Amino acid sequence: MKFAIIGGTGVYDVASKTRVEQVTTPYGDVEVDIQNIEGKDIIFLARHGKQHSTPPHMINFKANMWALKELGVKFVYATAAVGSCNSNFKPGDIVVFNDFLDFTKVRPITFYDGNEGVIHTSMADPYCQNLRKLFITAAKEEGVKIAGEGIYVCTEGPRFETSAEIRMFQKMGGDVVGMTNVPEVVLAKELEMCYAAVGIITNWCTGLGEELDKEEILSAVERNKAALTNLFIKIFVTNNLSQEQCHCKGALMKL
Ligand code: HPA
Repeated sequence: MKFAIIGGTGVYDVASKTRVEQVTTPYGDVEVDIQNIEGKDIIFLARHGKQHSTPPHMINFKANMWALKELGVKFVYATAAVGSCNSNFKPGDIVVFNDFLDFTKVRPITFYDGNEGVIHTSMADPYCQNLRKLFITAAKEEGVKIAGEGIYVCTEGPRFETSAEIRMFQKMGGDVVGMTNVPEVVLAKELEMCYAAVGIITNWCTGLGEELDKEEILSAVERNKAALTNLFIKIFVTNNLSQEQCHCKGALMKL
């Protein structure tokens, strides 16, 4: 059984890596770092590439998720930089996503294009209940403050949102906004992996505060990344994780 951490903006590697592996998939090659901790392989994947060279709309999500599956991964934690459109969540806070609103436009959205019949995947619980619960408990134990759970709005990017779009997302119940979690979370579910994602709030969304500032975005991530990756690793190492405690396995319906 293997475990993975997908690092978003500003989170490009784990503190010490043991080996680099190149995985060939039907969608392209993916490079990952693999660290063996207490007999468990923990795979680290930099979503935008280690040099942050892949913009959100160009990320090869299908190759990334297929590579993790190919490596035997069943449990994934991801980080993502997000803007906040909820006044309860401020820059620097950590938010656990509990649902999403999808405003992407032209991305590949599925592994199932009809070759295996018509497959629909349940999104009743897109982010694994069990991984979310374990993360919130571990954060309390380790004294890492979590601002709460929230609904993630995914935009296509790479542009930021307009003020009008942000007002619309607020009315729809969105809490935080980013450009990468869809289709990542969907593809994880299609491959029956348990997946949870944690947002690091880097800014107020457009129209809600100061102009976006690159240094502020990176420093919010910098302050939180070690705490988050350490928590993920602790959860993977100290728990006997099983897919019996959630609905991620078996979320596919074939019609
Ligand atoms: N909007 C979209 N994606 C983001 C933002 C934002 O305000 N901040 C960090 N990623």
